[in-house]
Parts: sequence; C-alpha cells; structure tokens
Amino acid sequence: MNAKLDSSVTTRPVTRQTFDEVLVPTYAPAAMVPVRASGLDLWDQNGKHYLDFTSGIAVASLGHCNPVLVEALTRQANTLWHLGNGYTNEPVLRLGMALTEATFAERAFFCNSGAEANEAALKLARKHGHAKGGEGKSRIVSCFSSFHGRTLFTVSVGGQSKYTEGFEPLPPAIDHIEYNNIEAARAAITDDVCAVIVEPVQGEGGVVPGDKAFLQALRELCDQTGALLIFDEVQCGMGRTGHLFAYQGYGITPDILTSAKALGNGYPIGAMLTTAELAATLSVGSHGTTYGGNPLAATVALTVLDTINQPAFLARVNEASGTLTAMLEGLCKDYPEILSSVRGSGLLLGVVVADAWKGKSKDIQKAAEAEGLMVLIAGTDVVRFAPALIVSDAQIAEAGRILRVALDGLKG
Ligand SMILES: Cc1ncc(COP(=O)(O)O)c(C=O)c1O
Repeated sequence: MNAKLDSSVTTRPVTRQTFDEVLVPTYAPAAMVPVRASGLDLWDQNGKHYLDFTSGIAVASLGHCNPVLVEALTRQANTLWHLGNGYTNEPVLRLGMALTEATFAERAFFCNSGAEANEAALKLARKHGHAKGGEGKSRIVSCFSSFHGRTLFTVSVGGQSKYTEGFEPLPPAIDHIEYNNIEAARAAITDDVCAVIVEPVQGEGGVVPGDKAFLQALRELCDQTGALLIFDEVQCGMGRTGHLFAYQGYGITPDILTSAKALGNGYPIGAMLTTAELAATLSVGSHGTTYGGNPLAATVALTVLDTINQPAFLARVNEASGTLTAMLEGLCKDYPEILSSVRGSGLLLGVVVADAWKGKSKDIQKAAEAEGLMVLIAGTDVVRFAPALIVSDAQIAEAGRILRVALDGLKG
C-alpha cells in the first residue's frame, strides 16, 4: 500500500515542520499552529491562548466560528451544496439582491477570491474598452504600492514589483502612478485607458487611506476619458472602514467594485459589482468559474452582509476605531523610539515604526505574538491592526497591555 495513502495521515501528529515537508514554500507561517478559535480568542497546538487582532488578514470580521454563521452554513450544508453554473440557486439570488440593494451596483458576479474578483473587473474593462475604442483603448492605470491579487494579470496590475519578478513576460499595457498624486493621475489617464483600479484604502501597501481629492480626480478623469473606475474593496470593504463599503464614506461612486475577504468571513467568496449597462459587456460564455455563487458560500455571505449592514453595527465599528486609535497613539507617545504614528481608517489601522525600527515591523509582530497577541504587518515599516469588527473595548485594552509588555521587551 502506498505509504501516502496510509489512513493514519488523519491521526498522525502534524507540526509546523510538516509545512516545510509537504507544502510549496510560498509562505513562511508562524512557528505556532492554531487549532481552534472563537470570536477573537485563539489557541495553538500547545493550548496557548492568543488574542487575534488579524482576523485572518481582515477576513473573519464577525469573529472565528461565529455561531450565527455556523448555523447558517450547517443548515445550507444539509440542504444543497453545489450545482455548477448550469443552474442558479436561491442563496446566490438572495445575495445578489442584497448586494445590489445595498450599493450603487445593479449586477453581481461571484467568484472565490479577491484576485478573481479583480480579474473579472479587469477583463470586463478590457472588453468594454475594445467595444468602445478598439485595441487602442486597453491601457490600465494602477497605483504603486497597491495589491490586487496573485494571478498573473492582477499581480501585474498590482504596484509592487517584488511580486512580479521572475514571472515575466507580464501582460502589457499596464501603467502605475503614485498613490494620492493627482498630477500623476492627470498625466497618465488619457483616452487610451480602459480602466483605473485603486484601493480606497491601501492595505498591503502600508495602510494608507486615499485622499478624497485624489479619488474624486480619478472619477473625473475616468468620466472625461471613458475609462472605468474600479474600486478594489477586497480589504477595506464590508464594514471595515465603518461604512459598508469605503466608497460610501467618500461619496465617490466607482463603475466596478470588488469584494472578497470579509464577504465570506473565511468561507471563500469574491464578488464583482457593477451597473446593468456595464455587466452586459460580459455576455454568456465570456467569463465564469465553477464555484462562483456556490450555495454554501452565498449563504454565509448573505448572513455576513445582513449582520454588518446595520446602522448600529457600523456605528460600533466607528466607536471601536476611535478606541483602538487612541490606544495605538498612546503607544506611539510612550514608545517613540519604536513607534511613530498611526494611520488608516475604521478598524484597518497601521502603526508606522520609528526610524530606528525601519525594516523591522516583523520583529514587533513576533514580540507581540510571543506575549499572546496576533497582529499583522503591512510591509517592513508598518504594524497592521485588523481585528474582528466585533472587538470589544476590553479586548482593545488587553491588546494595549500586551503590546506594552512586548515593547518593553524590545526596548531591552
Ligand atoms: C486590496 C486587495 N485586493 C485583492 C487581494 C487579493 O485577494 P485574495 O487573496 O482573496 O485573492 C487582496 C489580498 O490581500 C487585497 O488586500
């Protein structure tokens, strides 16, 4: 019998080292292996407790193993799992209705991830450009430091060359401008552009909010040139900024909006939202994916949306944002040799490290984890905080206490 098929694989001990032995080394996960979690509490293989201020990179916004979501998923799992696109299903129809009623959009396309949502948006924009201006209207403008996913198209559109190195040749006709630079936008967005893609708040690029004037200028330039404005809200959407979607806080409406991450709270789903007119660009057979709009994913997303898109829920996100910001600003004041300033929006916040700690955000992350607090980094100079949106004031205070212990240790 093939040793690999030995049934003991289901019971044999696995450790962090197993990762190196059986998985493609695309990640360098932490030394501890989480085994269970509830809300913002998480435990590793050794039973050690952590307070999770990452929510799986801005995904589990309603907390781990949220009982309402578990109930909805279990109910659907006992009803109908999967069909394929030859049939539609009730959960996806309800989710489409809910998302279009809650946003500018009139049509939704469902897929499985943020990269796929952006891939769909960019393909739609290219096809729309071809229809309007032929091959000549195909250029895509994006921002440096942006992140839009890891397919070859989305990683090329993303503004971080470290992610494309070695994967050349890249898709052509993609240009990058400095984020929040209106002059650069004016120079780049001309009649040959089919799409401008931007994160209203850059997440991976360092937790940098877009200036309202910049996003407004992108809207105007797109209107003037007939380019489509794509807001990538994969990380900053679904309540994270205190609005259901960040565009609603800015009062600037895109032509296409992409969502994923928190949309499924950890159950994989992505969505591209757009107008009825633009949706008609993608006719039957022009784009698709086997699992998009699967009843299980759609049920979870519908339940997430129903929970988050409530005035009281969003008001609490804003309140918690104020509490977390104040806590982090207190740390910057008390540990100026390590931390310098706080930026971000809602519950997507970044603490910029002080000059002496430039390039070492990971060390701060590791020190916090050793004390029992999970945080993220956004590049080498920013420690990123993206707790579940249900975070309590007591949990924010506890995170502050743990961070002080960790920072005291780093100060030496
Ligand atoms: C703004 C943004 N867009 C797209 C993506 C890609 O999403 P996924 O990893 O689900 O493909 C991410 C992931 O971090 C993101 O932050």
